[in-house]
Amino acid sequence: MNNFSQKIISWYDANGRKNLPWQKEDPYKVWISEVMLQQTQVSTVIPYFNKFISCFPKIDDLAVASLDEILSIWSGLGYYTRAKNIHKTANILREDFDSKLPNNFEDLVALPGIGFSTAGAILSLGFKKPGVILDGNVKRVLLRMSGNKSPMNEYKTEKSLKEFAQILLPKANFKKYSQGLMDLGATICKPQNPDCEKCPIIIDCKANNKNIQNLIPLKSLRKKKKEKKIDWVLIKTENKVLLMRNKESGIWQNLWLLPNEDHFTSKNISKLNPIKSNFPSFKHQLSHKDLSISVKIYTIKNKDRLPIDRTSFHWVNISDSVNMGVPKPVKEILNKI
Ligand code: ADE
Repeated sequence: MNNFSQKIISWYDANGRKNLPWQKEDPYKVWISEVMLQQTQVSTVIPYFNKFISCFPKIDDLAVASLDEILSIWSGLGYYTRAKNIHKTANILREDFDSKLPNNFEDLVALPGIGFSTAGAILSLGFKKPGVILDGNVKRVLLRMSGNKSPMNEYKTEKSLKEFAQILLPKANFKKYSQGLMDLGATICKPQNPDCEKCPIIIDCKANNKNIQNLIPLKSLRKKKKEKKIDWVLIKTENKVLLMRNKESGIWQNLWLLPNEDHFTSKNISKLNPIKSNFPSFKHQLSHKDLSISVKIYTIKNKDRLPIDRTSFHWVNISDSVNMGVPKPVKEILNKI
């Protein structure tokens, strides 16, 4: 075993995280957790992961579930394409892989939603086989170690990181090594002010040697996010609210949303009773857009007087609505009524 990996493994034995709920050497749990962790922090993922596994304990449970059921559990976690891909992959696993995750890189990366790093995680954490994880924490450790000042997410940087990570892989103990590198990045080699004096690989680290650790990874210039204004209407009866199934493109594909005012003619709007809204407009940030959301509230005594397109619009019990596949801002609005 090389010296570098030995240091990581020993550090992991003494300091690494060992009680995360997906650390069960079950490739299914590793897959689900890694997809959740692709864009979301550990502390946010834990309750979602636990709920997901209790609803879908086996790959087959997931494959036979509807996309709606999966989205309802995913609701609030964001990046909903991940849930769609999980559903697609579960069906492929059931059809072609005897409801098991394959234990080789080529078959894993061919599955929807499983890229280089997630395949590496499933191999190393789920099967204890050689596999490279390159999440943001690991990338930062490796960039600092090699004193590499290239922007983290550029294609060229990613390519050289993949090669470097492959060279560093040990010959055994893949699970401890992978988890150790991630944990080192998360707890010691932090984005700002890393605790270098506690780091087991300080003497291997070019950034530390040159005292440039706070300059790596180089921040790439952020593009200014687009802004989008959303004007929702919340129409309710005594105990029901009108929701609309979103189309299969753009943001929040397949999720349930509140309708916009322009879904209704002015004649139909005039059948509604406006309620003085206690919802001030609010902001919601997506990775690529800043949303500014306003909500007008209306009631209607007899909901059947409002013509709706029944293929996408549904009257839903208010108490059920918060448990459906709705994005976070809709959930927050529904929770308040
Ligand atoms: N980030 C990505 N995968 C992770 C894992 N298995 N544990 C902690 N953080 C992670």
